[in-house]
Amino acid sequence: MPGLTWNDSLKLWIEVIDAEHETLLAMLNHTTEPDGALVTARDGTELIDRLLLFVTDHFRHEEEVMVKINYPDFESHRRAHIKLREQARFFKTVLIEEGDPALARIELAGFLSDWLANHLVQVDLLMAPHIARHIALKGPL
Ligand SMILES: [Fe+2]
Ligand SMILES: [Fe+2]
Repeated sequence: MPGLTWNDSLKLWIEVIDAEHETLLAMLNHTTEPDGALVTARDGTELIDRLLLFVTDHFRHEEEVMVKINYPDFESHRRAHIKLREQARFFKTVLIEEGDPALARIELAGFLSDWLANHLVQVDLLMAPHIARHIALKGPL
């Protein structure tokens, strides 16, 4: 997503989660480069498939952390993960039906920046103080 590159302010200070977020941002940023990887609508659907596969593990890792720290917003965060997966699957069907590469690329870039980068900043980062507190009181996760 334009304007969002990986940096320490995005960290939750859990190695596996941070590494996954860094990878996801790199995948998203790649789609918005002027000579990015997406040429056809099929590239778009393949990217969504790769992302869905990747976030299945990633969301599970986050949910495991939330359980460990007894996170108060666990349920709403988990629902957000379910919704993100549904949106990605829906967008994939739109791409397949439209089949217009140029449009697909523009829409996909916008969709992905909303889809995941916003979730990272607006939802995942809310866990940061809870994680920090847990680590301070009980040690590393
Ligand atoms: Fe995340
Ligand atoms: Fe999340």
